[in-house]
Amino acid sequence: MKVILAAYLIVLLIKGMAGGSEPAYRDPDRPIEERVEDLLQRMTLAEKIGQMTQIEVTRLMGSGQWDRGPLNEDWLQTVLVDHHVGSILSGGGSAPIPNTPQAWTAMTNTIQRHAMENSRLGIPIIYGVDAVHGHNTVLGATIFPHNIGLAAAANVDLVEKLAHATAGDVRATGIHWNFGPVADLGLDLRWGRFYETFGEDPYLASSLAAASVRGQQGADLKQGIAATGKHFLGYGVALQGQDRGDASLSLRELRTIHYPPFEAVIDQGVSVIMPNSGTINGIPVHASRQLLTDVLRDDMGFTGVVVSDWEDIHKLYQTYKITDSFADAVGIAINAGVDMYMVPHDAAQFTGALHRQVEAGVVSMERVDEAVRRILTLKFELGLFEDPYAETEAADERIFDAHRPLALRAALESMTLLQNNGVLPLGVEPQRVLVIGPAAHNVRVQMGGWTIDWQGIPENHPHPPAVTILEGIENWLGTGAVVDHLRGIPEQGGHNAVEAAGEAVLTAADGADAVIVVLGEEPYAEGEGDRLEPRLAREEEQLIKSLAAAGHDVVLVLLSGRPLLIAELVDHTAAILMAYLPGTAAGDAVAQVLFGEYNPAGRLPFSWPFHTGQLPMHHNGPHTIQYDPLFAFGHGLSYSPFRYSGLVVEGLSSERAVVQVTVDVTNEGDRDGDHIVQVFARQPSVRSTAGPAVLLEPMPQRQRLVGFQRIHLNAGETVTVDIPVAAEQLMVVTGDVFGDGPKRMASGRWEFSVGSLRRTADLDFQ
Ligand code: BGC
Ligand code: BGC
Repeated sequence: MKVILAAYLIVLLIKGMAGGSEPAYRDPDRPIEERVEDLLQRMTLAEKIGQMTQIEVTRLMGSGQWDRGPLNEDWLQTVLVDHHVGSILSGGGSAPIPNTPQAWTAMTNTIQRHAMENSRLGIPIIYGVDAVHGHNTVLGATIFPHNIGLAAAANVDLVEKLAHATAGDVRATGIHWNFGPVADLGLDLRWGRFYETFGEDPYLASSLAAASVRGQQGADLKQGIAATGKHFLGYGVALQGQDRGDASLSLRELRTIHYPPFEAVIDQGVSVIMPNSGTINGIPVHASRQLLTDVLRDDMGFTGVVVSDWEDIHKLYQTYKITDSFADAVGIAINAGVDMYMVPHDAAQFTGALHRQVEAGVVSMERVDEAVRRILTLKFELGLFEDPYAETEAADERIFDAHRPLALRAALESMTLLQNNGVLPLGVEPQRVLVIGPAAHNVRVQMGGWTIDWQGIPENHPHPPAVTILEGIENWLGTGAVVDHLRGIPEQGGHNAVEAAGEAVLTAADGADAVIVVLGEEPYAEGEGDRLEPRLAREEEQLIKSLAAAGHDVVLVLLSGRPLLIAELVDHTAAILMAYLPGTAAGDAVAQVLFGEYNPAGRLPFSWPFHTGQLPMHHNGPHTIQYDPLFAFGHGLSYSPFRYSGLVVEGLSSERAVVQVTVDVTNEGDRDGDHIVQVFARQPSVRSTAGPAVLLEPMPQRQRLVGFQRIHLNAGETVTVDIPVAAEQLMVVTGDVFGDGPKRMASGRWEFSVGSLRRTADLDFQ
């Protein structure tokens, strides 16, 4: 009764204000800007602050503090109406019960309906989720490879398609916003989020992150979802590879390596940016006005919403201790440029603190309006005022069994063959195959973190659709062959158990035509995945060595989100296939590569070191540093030899593409297959000019990746590939040691290479 009465009064009030007609902000025919201004001037300070607040969905569930029961009407009222909260998120794992697509849609619709029908102005909420490799928290959704594998596939079009498919699934569950793509670089294998990145190269990462934004947002946000470029800036290079740690970064390094992927997503119109949770040079990024406003807005031209990362305003005073009160932390972060706070638990504490900071004049009303304007603009762009709900019935149908061919294609394209003495492909139909290892039949491992739950699929939990490596091999071979599976490593027991398991493996291997060892990492996410020495278990290493000592050609398949320290195993294996974290289609993809149905073409998107003492080690580092990896950036074998010829480099006068690289590629093998052409450039020396105003250029990088293209070649075929090199790829950050001079095109001699072919070009941009 109370609700009906209130709704009636609101209707009267709104009608009254607009002189009987609908208020301007409700009119879809008016320009968004006008609607935003109209709505903004109707809002109270409390309502505005509510729009800047994001709360975790579990706060709306159950009856106790943390239980995840059904949505609770009282809490919907407290959060959405009393505190006017304008955004809800599901952190890793916060799913409805039961976890089905329909239940997700019903849940988000209920929340949305409560906000629309009970809040004074009927402003829709915006719901966010981490759909970082498919709609990965929804049970039943197809899981795609994590980004690190997609980087090895180096296929811009594929990333766009995957992002588009994910966006469709996300939107079908009433969610409009994804916390991805990651635009951070994978520069330190010790870091627990390495697998979420597109690898170590800024150009490769920029191209793929940009493709993800295009795929998610589409041409019109009303059909797509809002993407988030995260985590701005320099995340992942904290000291000792620590998540949310302190990075020491020169301005030159920031501008040369870390800016480009963010510039690329902003260039694609990314809706949201999420800052780095860590610190740079002692300043927490969430407190940095220089980064969040001067660089992000003024230099890079970003106009969308900045959402904080999880609890990061609290961390300013609790963890980083740069203030001694929460309220001061709120003032600093909002003034630095945070528009929305991912609180995510205690709405009242944040809204109260911000309210007081506004009243005290610490945070200006203009700053609040600016933040709210950006958030409302996004909601209008997404069409939420007109189309706030998703169709509950359609969600199951849309999500179950969707995108399976796409998932397989992505997993196949990512497969990277690191070494092969000729044992692969296992062509002749083997009679007896021995598959060994705890990762061989293990859905949790092939999915990695951010799958169902934050730290990956919990033990003994129902899992998403998946073909394990063992199943993939069994399916491939069919009934004609015998596939034995041994774990190889006992789940418990001491030395004796390990020895007994080892002996069983050796006995089984004696009768086998092929010995496939599948090893990997247990799933992890964020700081929980930081490792000083990421490697296989000692018992696993020993198993490989004993098999090799007994004369077996060991085929090692790695399911891992980063390069593991395997240098001492290389001589004991006949072949190594890096499968990354391939998701649902892992087993089919691995089997198709092992048995020669698919010709592998993935190329490493990072440098694989012998040991961590070599870190940091990147293909594009200073030319004076020794680059001596176990496997280099760009390494990856195929079953066909590919030959390059006829490399031509031509200068272009166009503003964006300055050089055109043309090369002929021939598939000299007897199998069809993909091949990734990579173009590198380097400056033999630079041209710093002496004079009254010395403009120093930094010493040359060892090389940089300036272009790439994935192509398909039939056996014996030759294809001519044209790769335009964008102007940005030949820029240098000028200036003395601080690197604060203008960024400009480096004139002078450049050497371009494809494989072992080289051509020089003298470029003059003056
Ligand atoms: C992560 C973000 C993520 C957010 C929401 C944070 O802990 O750093 O990447 O988007 O949680 O789940
Ligand atoms: C949440 C994640 C979040 C993490 C941050 C977890 O409890 O589920 O989404 O990223 O906390 O530490």
